[in-house]
Amino acid sequence: MFDLNEKTGFVNTILESLLPVSKRQGSIEDAMRYSVLNGGKRLRPIMLIEAFRLFCADTETEKMIALPFAAAIEFIHSYSLVHDDLPAMDDDTYRRGQLTTHKKFGHAMGVLTGDALLNYAFETMSGAAVKVSGIRNVEIKAVLLDRCVRAISEISSQTGYLGMIYGQVRDCSEETDAAPDEVIKTDELKTSCLFEAALVAGAILGGADPEQIDRIKKAGYHIGIAFQLRDDILDETATFEELGKDIGSDEKNGKKTFLALMGREKTVSRLHTEMDKARETINDLPGEHGFFEDLCTMISSN
Ligand code: IPE
Ligand code: IPE
Ligand code: MG
Ligand code: MG
Ligand code: MG
Repeated sequence: MFDLNEKTGFVNTILESLLPVSKRQGSIEDAMRYSVLNGGKRLRPIMLIEAFRLFCADTETEKMIALPFAAAIEFIHSYSLVHDDLPAMDDDTYRRGQLTTHKKFGHAMGVLTGDALLNYAFETMSGAAVKVSGIRNVEIKAVLLDRCVRAISEISSQTGYLGMIYGQVRDCSEETDAAPDEVIKTDELKTSCLFEAALVAGAILGGADPEQIDRIKKAGYHIGIAFQLRDDILDETATFEELGKDIGSDEKNGKKTFLALMGREKTVSRLHTEMDKARETINDLPGEHGFFEDLCTMISSN
């Protein structure tokens, strides 16, 4: 099994170096740092980097494009959590073991910090592309610029109004008699879309071909569904000490999760089915994909 702490630590140093320095307590920079540098697992940026490494072993290219894009994915994920916790959404008090951003800085700053992180993600990705445009070798420059543009396009659409945001819209307005398939569709949008974006962007940046990109996207879909089903189970069964966020949030909000509709046994069984499908698609990827097999095992256990 890979060392999650080591990979998380690696991503943390990138995030730390890219986030703006805090000018004073309570500033927007302070709130941005508070909302990102607070103990997340960093799964999505780790997945982006690992997907990149399946297709490209060049460490200079990794530094120039994969690492800033990995940070950007975490900025987007962190913004989505800051907004997800707002009183108008899940109305939660704790995130990653500390007060949620709006509880610490006030509601207006909660909204604005999420906005700032979302924008900053795009500043970070386009900033990497600007650096690429300074490369002297015209062929390498053209290839890498094309990859950057396609990765930005993938990330923006997967997290936008037809992707992650639409998932959150559905999550906030799910009918009480929603069918299980409809709930899985919501999980796909609110969670798988970002996993797919991370894997596909990593693969694009590393130079994967269209067939390989399709395959890794499919893996992201199944991993994302399994991850959300597991998160829903943990919302019922874990402790605050384990998760660092409010327990029982879904029940409090009357969320129509797959778990609420179908019960624990069927949810666990669906989680394992999704993971088996993810493993099938991963097996045909090139390179050393032990990381992805371990990731599937990690998400399916407990
Ligand atoms: C939480 O994601 C949001 C869900 C999609 C369930 P994570 O469990 O990856 O949260 P962090 O980043 O580790 O805090
Ligand atoms: C959050 O899902 C999904 C997004 C933020 C897009 P949840 O509402 O289940 O996440 P937690 O449980 O608050 O982390
Ligand atoms: Mg939510
Ligand atoms: Mg929530
Ligand atoms: Mg949850």
